[in-house]
Amino acid sequence: MGEKTSRNLHEAFVGEAKAHFRLLAYAEKAEEEGFPQIAALFRAVAEAERVHTIRNLKLLGEVVVKDTEANLQASFQREEKASGVYYPQFIREAEEEEDRRAVISFSQARDVEEGHAALYKHALRHMLADTTPVYYVCEVCGYVAEIEAPERCPVCNAPREQFRQVA
Ligand SMILES: [Fe+2]
Ligand SMILES: [Fe+2]
Repeated sequence: MGEKTSRNLHEAFVGEAKAHFRLLAYAEKAEEEGFPQIAALFRAVAEAERVHTIRNLKLLGEVVVKDTEANLQASFQREEKASGVYYPQFIREAEEEEDRRAVISFSQARDVEEGHAALYKHALRHMLADTTPVYYVCEVCGYVAEIEAPERCPVCNAPREQFRQVA
């Protein structure tokens, strides 16, 4: 693939992914403000941007999506960088600016990313396991639990009802 096209596909992938989530937030706001018809429009376009995201990603194919072992390895490294480099810096800067909500959000994300790294590491060692685990994701902080949802989230203390099952 040409260098420019590969760079543009990557840029389009990131831009469309951001648009997807931004539009979902706009839809939520429109719902809150009593504009359900506008919320529906934002959700429809958000879905379209999701389609674009996946399409760009598929074309990027071999550049981004490698074999599963390599994907686990890359995901593990990204989580380590997020929890060890990026979030610690974000936390320091939020503390400097005395933004308590950002400090809490970044701190919980850092702890959660550590957990994700551990899950990937474990999966790398057990790639040939013949049982498919069930995971439960905390919808508040993103903590991932295996087998069953905890009574309370160990990172953000959210109750069990906040966990969503992913298989
Ligand atoms: Fe993560
Ligand atoms: Fe949580």
